[in-house]
Amino acid sequence: MTDQSSNQMWGGRFAAGPDAIMEAINASIGFDQRMAAQDIAGSRAHAAMLAATGVITDSDAQAIREGLLTVLSEIQNGEFQFSTALEDIHMNVEARLKEVIGEPAGRLHTGRSRNDQVATDFKLWVRDQFDAAESGLLALIRALLAQAEAGADWVMPGFTHLQVAQPVTWGHHMMAYVEMFGRDLSRVRDARARMNESPLGAAALAGTSFPIDRQMTAEALGFDRPAANSLDAVSDRDFALEFLSTASICAVHLSRFAEELVIWSSAQFRFVTLSDRFSTGSSIMPQKKNPDAAELIRAKVGRIYGANTALMMVMKGLPLAYSKDMQEDKEQVFDAADNWMLALAAMEGMVKDMTANRESLAAAAGSGFSTATDLADWLVRVLGLPFRDAHHVTGSLVAMAESKGCDLSDLTLEDMQSVHADITDNVYSVLTVENSVNSRQSYGGTAPDQVRAQVKRWKALL
Ligand code: ARG
Repeated sequence: MTDQSSNQMWGGRFAAGPDAIMEAINASIGFDQRMAAQDIAGSRAHAAMLAATGVITDSDAQAIREGLLTVLSEIQNGEFQFSTALEDIHMNVEARLKEVIGEPAGRLHTGRSRNDQVATDFKLWVRDQFDAAESGLLALIRALLAQAEAGADWVMPGFTHLQVAQPVTWGHHMMAYVEMFGRDLSRVRDARARMNESPLGAAALAGTSFPIDRQMTAEALGFDRPAANSLDAVSDRDFALEFLSTASICAVHLSRFAEELVIWSSAQFRFVTLSDRFSTGSSIMPQKKNPDAAELIRAKVGRIYGANTALMMVMKGLPLAYSKDMQEDKEQVFDAADNWMLALAAMEGMVKDMTANRESLAAAAGSGFSTATDLADWLVRVLGLPFRDAHHVTGSLVAMAESKGCDLSDLTLEDMQSVHADITDNVYSVLTVENSVNSRQSYGGTAPDQVRAQVKRWKALL
């Protein structure tokens, strides 16, 4: 909508309204209307403070605060007419407030600027998303803990280079993700605590000559304190960058797990069965059950990290204090937040619903000479061989088993003794996968007892 008259909020020195293209590049109302509730909360706190400090009258503040609630309900009920000519959520709300309450509306913007206003709104929005991420992560961690507890002693192959390495337990593998998402949780909490300073009252950039009380608005909006430097307060977008980088690292974790679920649910692996609720079919191949949710979660890291990169580049080299470049922060954060929360919820749903196929896991656990390290350790422990020699002896036994097409445990004692004469039949006790995992009792190891101890620790932590 192009308006020939100059802008009602700032048009005093303008003779003509903006070109349609200017309006199109300038307006943010198409997306920043998502911050309406935050904008109105910030304005209500500001109005109350202006009255408490005697900058405006109590009756004006009262009219403003009530009028803002009317505007909020109009927005929430979908009755509000957003105007592109009014650029952004801040001016849309204020203009409507003027229609609703008249003259007192003009006093709301005393001692503040859109610069501190937008920083405040956006911080409140991002703070809510940190809280949503915290809930999403907690739910996902709980789902993983349930899987870990159920399968603390289920054996499966552990991989390095995606080649079978040593047997591990299902619970241990689940708990690896608990650690990863636990670090994400701690990053979320750290960043939320660091960002919780109020920009409101920094005004355009230099503070204000009105006797405002920034402590009061900070408290009213749930901030820990007012930001200490007005230039920094209006130009800081660290909180958005930390949100995006925290989201990016978490999205990397989600993508790694998603990739494992894609592999594990394939006919070649059959380690897990994903529920119908989190799978899709093919329109041409009737037999197919595809892990689409896992694939989409795996892909989300692309746009989330893309948002992180985009905002980093927007902020790079910006001089102090506010520049309009910073309006480009919101769409990136909105999109990343939506997709992060969705990915967390989808992963939680998949983890809750999926079934580990114990038999397939156990069958695969013993393949690929996965207990070769246990054999080498036995040679060290029982025969006193240096580990390097034990490694070499075991390597020869693996080669022998491979050429005979059998497992290590299928070699006869004579076969074994042909490689090292001192080997006794006691060696067979360490060649089972159960023995292998049970023996890995070192702190943080894969033994079921260790896994159960970690599940217990996490349950107490949560
Ligand atoms: N829509 C703007 C933004 O998102 C609000 C701040 C505008 N400030 C200004 N001085 N033009 O950043």
